[in-house]
Amino acid sequence: MKEKKSFRVALLLSYLVLVAAGKGARTIQQWENTSQIPTYQQFKKTIMMEDGDIYDCIDVNLQPAFNHPLLKDHTIQMEPTSFPIGLNIKSSFPHVVSQAHLSIIECPRGMVPILRNGRRDQISAHFIDQAINKDAQLEEAGMKYFDDLYGVQATINVYEPKVKKDSGDLSQTGIQIDNGPKGHMDSINACYSVSPSFYGDTFARFHVGWRDGVQNKSCIDHDCPGFVQVSHNVGLGGRVKPVSVYNGPQYVIHILIFKDPKTHNWWLAYGKDKTPVGYWPSSLFTSLKDKGNFSYTGGRASGPTASSDSPQIGSGHFASEGYGKAAFIKDIQIIDNNNKLVTPNEEKAISGSSDLRKYTIGNYGVDDHGVHMYYGGPGNFV
Ligand SMILES: *[C@@H]1O[C@H](CO)[C@@H](O)[C@H](O)[C@H]1NC(C)=O
Ligand SMILES: *[C@@H]1O[C@H](CO)[C@@H](O)[C@H](O)[C@H]1NC(C)=O
Ligand SMILES: *[C@@H]1O[C@H](CO)[C@@H](O)[C@H](O)[C@H]1NC(C)=O
Repeated sequence: MKEKKSFRVALLLSYLVLVAAGKGARTIQQWENTSQIPTYQQFKKTIMMEDGDIYDCIDVNLQPAFNHPLLKDHTIQMEPTSFPIGLNIKSSFPHVVSQAHLSIIECPRGMVPILRNGRRDQISAHFIDQAINKDAQLEEAGMKYFDDLYGVQATINVYEPKVKKDSGDLSQTGIQIDNGPKGHMDSINACYSVSPSFYGDTFARFHVGWRDGVQNKSCIDHDCPGFVQVSHNVGLGGRVKPVSVYNGPQYVIHILIFKDPKTHNWWLAYGKDKTPVGYWPSSLFTSLKDKGNFSYTGGRASGPTASSDSPQIGSGHFASEGYGKAAFIKDIQIIDNNNKLVTPNEEKAISGSSDLRKYTIGNYGVDDHGVHMYYGGPGNFV
């Protein structure tokens, strides 16, 4: 009973924050109906970003992940036991690029920011599942890698590819690691994505996702329990800023996914200094428990019309346009069974595009720093 009361107070507070921020009556009404409020035990602080995103700061030990039946007795791991060997080797890339930033939310230490998404609540889980499932239409331009691996890193040039507003499609670029038999594949991924149907806007947003091959269920961010966040200030689902401008300044994000050799959890770290965001507990998975045996690094369009009326991938320009115009991915390395970042074995890598009329790969190359390439294209946008 007491807990309910403090919950109401918190609600009232967040209501006041919204009113103070000058939001209209519609927002207020939405939050008066308590049955629509996420079922977090408590949130101590609500933060509204300039762009309208709203985050609740939630006790790190009460975050959504721990509602997962397999994580009932999970002991949170606040940092990786070690990092892979060979990090921070300088790239040979000849161009000057700046870092884009993930959304930084000032939650107190001991808490994690959880994005509210009013629009997403209206979209059925089935739809989300379809959009990130293989059933939907799918186009790709990137590098596939077929070998055992324990992580992948890449530096990704961030753009905001055009996606038609009510198409249900999305365009994303990132890293995916899989293992398991067809139809029951476990999978994890981290990417930036433009998906107007989920967010009601056309911004590049940063996401983590995964798929449980046994349950045949997909999920993104904290929408359903699984991903354990440790960072008190990275907002999953938040905007990546700034984004690159065609023929103008170029921005990148560094993403690293690696398996903790002691705890076997799959960690996500970002940025030049490899700041840990959180992890996918190894206990969520069957086939991905020990290692991955496939990875994909590149761009992807998926959704109901991704092939019939394709969105852009990358900058929306073909790879042949080169630096500043075509999007690039560089420093792609994989982590081998010695926990070491290495350049992918060329014989086990395949780069390509699912439809060369819409998307291309260019200037593909391999050196000591890994694989680099330009990728993407206009899709059906002309
Ligand atoms: C609150 O929302 C739920 C689900 O949308 C609905 O079933 C219920 O009738 C609403 N309650 C009130 C008081 O509006
Ligand atoms: C990965 O391993 C699974 C068995 O766990 C196998 O069924 C699948 O074909 C392998 N995938 C690749 C890409 O080699
Ligand atoms: C997984 O779920 C999809 C629907 O989301 C369905 O089409 C597919 O057949 C399922 N696969 C298995 C192996 O159950």
